[in-house]
Amino acid sequence: MADPSNDHLVLQTPKLALLDGFEDALARGWSPYTLADVSQQELKRLRADRAAYLASLNAQSGWIVLPDGRMVPKLPSRGFFINDGDFCGRIGLRFQHGTTELPDYTSGHIGYSIVPWKRGRGYATTALRTMLPIARDVGLPFVVITCNDDNHASRRVIEKCGGALIGTKTDDFAEGVTKLVFRVEM
Ligand SMILES: CC(C)(COP(=O)(O)OP(=O)(O)OC[C@H]1O[C@@H](n2cnc3c(N)ncnc32)[C@H](O)[C@@H]1OP(=O)(O)O)[C@@H](O)C(=O)NCCC(=O)NCCS
Repeated sequence: MADPSNDHLVLQTPKLALLDGFEDALARGWSPYTLADVSQQELKRLRADRAAYLASLNAQSGWIVLPDGRMVPKLPSRGFFINDGDFCGRIGLRFQHGTTELPDYTSGHIGYSIVPWKRGRGYATTALRTMLPIARDVGLPFVVITCNDDNHASRRVIEKCGGALIGTKTDDFAEGVTKLVFRVEM
């Protein structure tokens, strides 16, 4: 259940009418993905072809390029914009049908990022809580979520949503970075 104080917060499937807020956030330097700052390259792609960009956000197949340049298949996903009346960030679930397993190049089932000017209001916590039943609906009995060991805010978000620390792993894309691995049962 969402934090009652944030009951105005909604998860929205990306559509053309919602792209302006996303575009503005990219232009202000916010990166929708956390592995690397991709704000300016995403902005360029969005402005080159808004419809194609939107289709790529919602695509259920195809290919993605990892920070190390590898091209890998895009997994089935559920991606949402987080909105309180204005664009606040995004949250995404990725999974494989019929299994809880993920390929080794993914950091976990769920990733999220809140724009810096909307942080500290419980929005990531509410968005993650709202996402858990969606994960259950695609067949997952639990989700694995990771965060860097120095990302105290993200750790807190995961723990507030019931995450239990189950281990650590090294980050495949950032040398010397340790990730905390959490499991959230649903
Ligand atoms: C991590 C992130 C999503 C948090 O978003 P948010 O909407 O500000 O998070 P919330 O307001 O729901 O909760 C943040 C919690 O972390 C706590 N927190 C924030 N900064 C903290 C810090 N430096 N040390 C410890 N706790 C911290 C807050 O106090 C709050 O906990 P509380 O409710 O018990 O007080 C946001 O900072 C972000 O987008 N960061 C960049 C992308 C990222 O790291 N994504 C996660 C990848 S795993």
